[in-house]
Amino acid sequence: MLAYRHAFHAGNHADVLKHLVLIQVLKYMTSKDKPLRVIDTHAGAGGYLLASPEATKKGEYLQGVKRVWDAPAAKLPPAVIDYLKHVRASNPVTPGEENPTHHLAHYPGSPQIERRLLRAHDELRLYELHPTDHRLLAQQVEDDKQVILYKSDGFESLRSQLPPPSRRALVLMDPSYEIVSDYAKVVGALREGLERMATTVFIVWYPQVSRREAAELPRRLKALSPKGWLNVRLTVQQPDTQGFGLVGSGCFIINPPYTLAPALRAAMPWLTSTLAQYDGASHAVEERPS
Ligand SMILES: C[S@@+](CC[C@H](N)C(=O)[O-])C[C@H]1O[C@@H](n2cnc3c(N)ncnc32)[C@H](O)[C@@H]1O
Repeated sequence: MLAYRHAFHAGNHADVLKHLVLIQVLKYMTSKDKPLRVIDTHAGAGGYLLASPEATKKGEYLQGVKRVWDAPAAKLPPAVIDYLKHVRASNPVTPGEENPTHHLAHYPGSPQIERRLLRAHDELRLYELHPTDHRLLAQQVEDDKQVILYKSDGFESLRSQLPPPSRRALVLMDPSYEIVSDYAKVVGALREGLERMATTVFIVWYPQVSRREAAELPRRLKALSPKGWLNVRLTVQQPDTQGFGLVGSGCFIINPPYTLAPALRAAMPWLTSTLAQYDGASHAVEERPS
C-alpha cells in the first residue's frame, strides 16, 4: 500500500524546480508542428488546494511557490515568468473584487501543467497508483479525449507507450522514492524506454537526501544516456539534526532541447537566492550536449 500523498508537499522547492523545467521543455517541444505524446509515469492528483489540511500540515509551499509568488516582479528571469504564468492560470481572479488580484490558493500538479500546454493534436498519458489520487485525477480528465489515465505501474507501463506514431515523446518520471527500489526502477524503465525510442526526451526528478541510492542516481543516469543530457540541482537547506530531510533536488534530462541550458543558467541564481533556507544554498547546471 502506498503511503505517499503529494498533497503534503505540493508547491515546495522541489515542485518549483521540476515544474519550471517541465514548462521549459514542453514549451520548446510544442513549438514544433509534429504531434507529441507526453507520458507522466507518476502523475499525482493533478492539482492541490493550498488551504487543505494536507498542504498546511507542514506548509512546505511557504518555502517554495509562495516565495516565488511574492517576489518583486522586476528582474524575474524569463523561465520564472513562464512558471508563474502557469501558477497564476490555476488561481483565477475572484470575480467582483474591487481591486482584483490573484490569490495563491491552488497549486497545479504536472498533469494540469502538461494539459495546458498541449495542442489539439497532442496526447497525454497519465499513470497514478494511489487510489485517492487516482480518483481525484480521474474526475479532472474523464471527459478529455486527449488524455488517458491508467491505474497501473508507471515504471512497467512506460515501454507500452513508446514509440508513439509521431515518434515524438516526452516522459516525466517523478516517483516519490518512498520505496528504495524506486531508484533501480527509474534506471530500468529509462533503459527500456531508450531502447524503444532513443530520441525520447526524459525528465527524471530525484531527491537530494542522505541515502546512497540517491547520491548515485545522477551518475547512473549519465552512464545510461547515449547522447545529450542535462543535470540541474538546487540545494536549499541543511539536513535536520538527525542528518535527514529533503535538502534539495534535481532534474536529469535526457535529450534536452538546446534552449534548456541557457534558460536554466539564467534562472538558477535567482531561484537559489529566492528559495535559500540557509547561507550555503547552491545550484549546479551541467550538461553533455548531443
Ligand atoms: C511525487 S508524486 C507526483 C507528483 C506529480 N508528478 C506532480 O509533479 O504534480 C508521485 C506519485 O506517484 C504515485 N506512484 C507511486 N508509485 C507509482 C508507480 N509505480 N506507478 C504510478 N504511480 C505511482 C504516488 O501515488 C504519487 O502520487
